[in-house]
Amino acid sequence: MTNSAPVSTRRDLADAPLLVAARGGKPRHTPVWFMRQAGRSLPEYRQVREGIPMLQACLTPDLVSEITLQPVRRHGVDAAILFSDIVLPLYAAGVGLDIVPGTGPVVTKPISGRDDVAALPALEAEQVKPVADAVGLLVQELGQTPLIGFAGAPFTLASYLVEGGPSRNHERTKALMHSDPQTWHSLLEKLADTTLEFLRVQVGAGVDAIQLFDSWAGALSLRDYREFVLPHSRRIFEGVSEISDVPKIHFGVGTGELLGAMRNAGPDVVGVDWRVPLDTAVARIAAAEPTARKPVVQGNLDPAVLFAGWDAVEREVHRILAEGRDAGGHIFNLGHGVLPTTDPEVLTRVVELVHTATAQR
Ligand code: CP3
Repeated sequence: MTNSAPVSTRRDLADAPLLVAARGGKPRHTPVWFMRQAGRSLPEYRQVREGIPMLQACLTPDLVSEITLQPVRRHGVDAAILFSDIVLPLYAAGVGLDIVPGTGPVVTKPISGRDDVAALPALEAEQVKPVADAVGLLVQELGQTPLIGFAGAPFTLASYLVEGGPSRNHERTKALMHSDPQTWHSLLEKLADTTLEFLRVQVGAGVDAIQLFDSWAGALSLRDYREFVLPHSRRIFEGVSEISDVPKIHFGVGTGELLGAMRNAGPDVVGVDWRVPLDTAVARIAAAEPTARKPVVQGNLDPAVLFAGWDAVEREVHRILAEGRDAGGHIFNLGHGVLPTTDPEVLTRVVELVHTATAQR
């Protein structure tokens, strides 16, 4: 592998707080962005999305660019995250699925065994060319603000494909994993290929960092995560490292028991939900991977706290900044995505507070 083509299109953002923090340096302030910062909490998003189905929107470069820029303009966050979805590469590759408003991804013909796995199509780069085009537009528009690309990790994608939609207990997914490990591993291998290809396209087009979402990995025991999931996620991080040195973030919900193992998969930054204080998270990650460098973490304000009034929000932001102070780096974020009914003005105030409270003079 060469690393010339992808890296050459990237902007020089050496001082961008997000990238400095992700690499374990000292940023001029603690960087802050929000998962799902683009979306229904913003009236300007609801307006431009009106009448346009989600997946169609994700494949329309002008619209992707506009929606991605909206929270950057409004909140002054330290990163843009590409407007897309974890199931987009599956859809683009030809898997029958839709994103149903209020529900999430719904798969027409769920995967139930070996033949379905064999029939799962691979992603070709040109099938997501509109995403590359959108990244191309964004890197011109964003100035000094880094752009985060992302993809879904194999376990979370497998859960949607096997369950046929969102699932509370992931019972079909776990049944496949335990009853037919061979089929399970070949499914995750194929999904890892698709995810890696999707990330290569984004990195090649100029994203400055990537986040791998294993949103539902927290449903697994540490033992099962290590055996059935971690090797596949690791291959994705290794594959990205082969083509670029962009920082890599790994996030899941309810992953308190898995934080060390998720770090073992190979990211530079581990995302933490609100259930585990950042100092505890740092200790767990450091114990799992003892190196000279302290872990870099991202998180972890409970998105529900944004509804509790400013005094509560302010108190929680200060607590989280204090708990993140001894990390190797801290990227402020929520513990999961912005809820659709969140008051966007509260998000803008959180950005201002994080910046003023952490400004280096
Ligand atoms: O963070 C951002 O601002 C970037 C956009 C983004 C979306 N999806 C846009 C979206 C990102 C990073 C995702 C990733 C994603 N998609 C994940 C991982 C992150 C997480 O939340 O754990 C998951 C699990 C999905 C699957 C998915 N897609 C769900 C659960 C939903 C919500 C369904 C609903 O209507 O409540 C979607 C749809 C989706 N993806 C929306 C957005 C803005 C809402 C669709 C709409 O506005 O019509």
